[in-house]
Amino acid sequence: MIEPLMALCTSSKMQPIRDLISKVASTNTTVLLRGESGTGKEVLARAIHKASPRAGKQFLKVNCAALPGELLESELFGHEKGAFTGAYRQKPGKFEAAHQGTLLLDEIGEMPLRLQAKLLHVLQDGEFSRVGGEKIIDTDVRLIAATNRDLEASMRAHQFREDLYYRLNVIEVRIPPLRERREEIPGLVDFFLKKFNVQYGRAVDIPPDTMRVFVDYHWPGNIRELENGVKRVVVLGTARPVHTEILGNISRGPRVSVPGAPAAAVASPDAPISLKEIARQAAREAERVAIKEVLDRVHWNRAKAARLLQISYKALLYKIVQCGLVVQDTEPEKQREVIAS
Ligand SMILES: Nc1ncnc2c1ncn2[C@@H]1O[C@H](COP(=O)(O)OP(=O)(O)OP(=O)(O)O)[C@@H](O)[C@H]1O
Ligand SMILES: [Mg+2]
Repeated sequence: MIEPLMALCTSSKMQPIRDLISKVASTNTTVLLRGESGTGKEVLARAIHKASPRAGKQFLKVNCAALPGELLESELFGHEKGAFTGAYRQKPGKFEAAHQGTLLLDEIGEMPLRLQAKLLHVLQDGEFSRVGGEKIIDTDVRLIAATNRDLEASMRAHQFREDLYYRLNVIEVRIPPLRERREEIPGLVDFFLKKFNVQYGRAVDIPPDTMRVFVDYHWPGNIRELENGVKRVVVLGTARPVHTEILGNISRGPRVSVPGAPAAAVASPDAPISLKEIARQAAREAERVAIKEVLDRVHWNRAKAARLLQISYKALLYKIVQCGLVVQDTEPEKQREVIAS
């Protein structure tokens, strides 16, 4: 059975990933999950575990970025009493606790080189010893690694071992960012809306114009950001503040550089940049410039501008807000009318 949350990954981009998961789940192969923050790497890792013969055993996660080297080593492999200051008693690590289950090594790109060597050893030999111990412990753990780092660049910079990379990268799953699978957004919004309405005892709805804004937005924080957005709508009891905030973000533009658009920083040098997304942003920017020009020409007479641009008055009002154009010489009442429409 595939994880219920995966049922929401309905886009054509996610279909091959769902297929791949069904195929690899029943095997013991190591899987490397890659994708921007918040794309659902952990959800996918849990889906693999649940669909595997190990489903009845533990699924454990260790965040390699959250602990300094020595603590991470003890977290993974455990320690013997007296292994280091503060090791008052023997403690088994996650590799032991996840025996016959699945272990997710999150942010694997942050693992110190010394530990990478130890991990490689475990993967090759299926055994290890606790920190400060001699005893050899056999391990039967299915390993899933996740990262949003460019591991190839880390290898070139000698920060990530090549042999470990190939050992982990038996099956690689690249999870596309949410902006490349926008058709999933309405389903996700409905799902989160129901979840938070139940959680907070509310009956808040998302109006259609907010849903359109949600579908349009580039969601740099991916599904996590969308989830938080819907949570705020439910907690506040209205979609307006979140709606307006997202419009502001849209007007500032996604952080990829688009020809003709004001220079913007790229989110991260390793972040993939989709050509489709660049085209979408360029079109949005061209629209913004054209609308602004026409509005200036007709002294912000919006009815006249709508006629010249051959769009409806309502569509123009929406676009003015969407493009973040400042309404000039308009009294506050009218401005509010534009924002609310
Ligand atoms: N398919 C989905 N359906 C519903 N919720 C989802 C789905 N995928 C992810 N989420 C939710 O989005 C949030 C982020 O997901 P997850 O933690 O799996 O992302 P991640 O890629 O591991 O992020 P990070 O890189 O920041 O660790 C979580 O709250 C998760 O429940
Ligand atoms: Mg994660």
